[in-house]
Amino acid sequence: MIVLGIETSCDETGVAVYDTERGLLAQALHSQIAMHERYGGVVPELASRDHIRRVLPLARQVLDEAGVGLDALDAVAYTAGPGLAGALLVGAGIGASLAWALGVPAIPVHHLEGHLLSPLLSADPPEFPFVALLVSGGHTQLMDVQGIGRYTLLGDTLDDAAGEAFDKSAKLLGLGYPGGPAIAKLAESGEAGRYRLPRPMLRSDDLDFSFSGLKTAVMTLVRRELPAAGSGNPETPDPQQLRADIAREVEEAITEVLVAKSLRALEQTGRDTLVVAGGVSANRRLRERLAAAQQGAGIRVHFPELSLCSDNGAMIAFAGAQRLAALRAEGEADALAAPAGFQVRPRWPLDSLAPA
Ligand code: KG4
Ligand code: ZN
Repeated sequence: MIVLGIETSCDETGVAVYDTERGLLAQALHSQIAMHERYGGVVPELASRDHIRRVLPLARQVLDEAGVGLDALDAVAYTAGPGLAGALLVGAGIGASLAWALGVPAIPVHHLEGHLLSPLLSADPPEFPFVALLVSGGHTQLMDVQGIGRYTLLGDTLDDAAGEAFDKSAKLLGLGYPGGPAIAKLAESGEAGRYRLPRPMLRSDDLDFSFSGLKTAVMTLVRRELPAAGSGNPETPDPQQLRADIAREVEEAITEVLVAKSLRALEQTGRDTLVVAGGVSANRRLRERLAAAQQGAGIRVHFPELSLCSDNGAMIAFAGAQRLAALRAEGEADALAAPAGFQVRPRWPLDSLAPA
């Protein structure tokens, strides 16, 4: 079964072709980072317009690369939510129209389900059940995953997501967008332990997160430390070094909380497998800490390939293929055939999905 996947929920246009027999055949991505950078964040209207320009050329490109004709597609999967309404409508409109024209099913995919299943595309995939830590720009959630579509929410962020905490701290440090990779890069030259930021809710018994206090603490630190630096006086510290030291501590604070809560979720559920997915799963320090935590603890930690951590079409094609396979097995695939319309859901809780 061959599925074309289309992702347009935020600021990347991702298109991919996935074959259930041969795996991922081709994928292409256009990032809008350069376009949004000057505004310090994603401008929704610009995002939608750019997706319109990109989807079809990228679809042609991946079909060519995969050596697959339109007539060989068994389905078209698109991200139906959550995300920016206008941006979602582009992928949904094109995906559903293409499916309709080809007379094949159109499969609306939950963006976070795409992220959550993306480690299954790696060479050493995890097996169900597992605990998933979903860390993206908009979400920080711990899920108990019993199978495809069988998700129980264990913990959520009460305010900012982890990615958002990286992005907002980066802005305060005068770094570019997106902030996660910028903080991670600067942190490499930072000195550990020069500053101490709070680890929000580290010791609370629940599995929830809160990162907005961290942003406030970073703001206070930046206001206090940076004006004093770089005054030209050789006695005052180099502002670039201080920025790096703060970046290092931001990364330490966020990753320490993520790791502690993930381990607690494993303990509480009795699971021995942790899957980390979403943009922040690319973070090297988070990977290092979890790799260290699994040593001797009888647990396994799985990440997506680095190229599949941020938004992409491959995870949408894959999640769509899994959904379609399950529907076919139950003789219900006709329900998705030749759609007469489509819907997007800018807000859509992952644990409301039906099992596959
Ligand atoms: O999953 P994603 O690509 O988009 C959403 O669905 O939100 O996640 C984007 C988020 C951004 O907040 C970005 O700063 C963060 O992931 N991110 C990182 C890294 N790479 C991306 N955060 C920390 N370290 C990274 N290396
Ligand atoms: Zn995402």
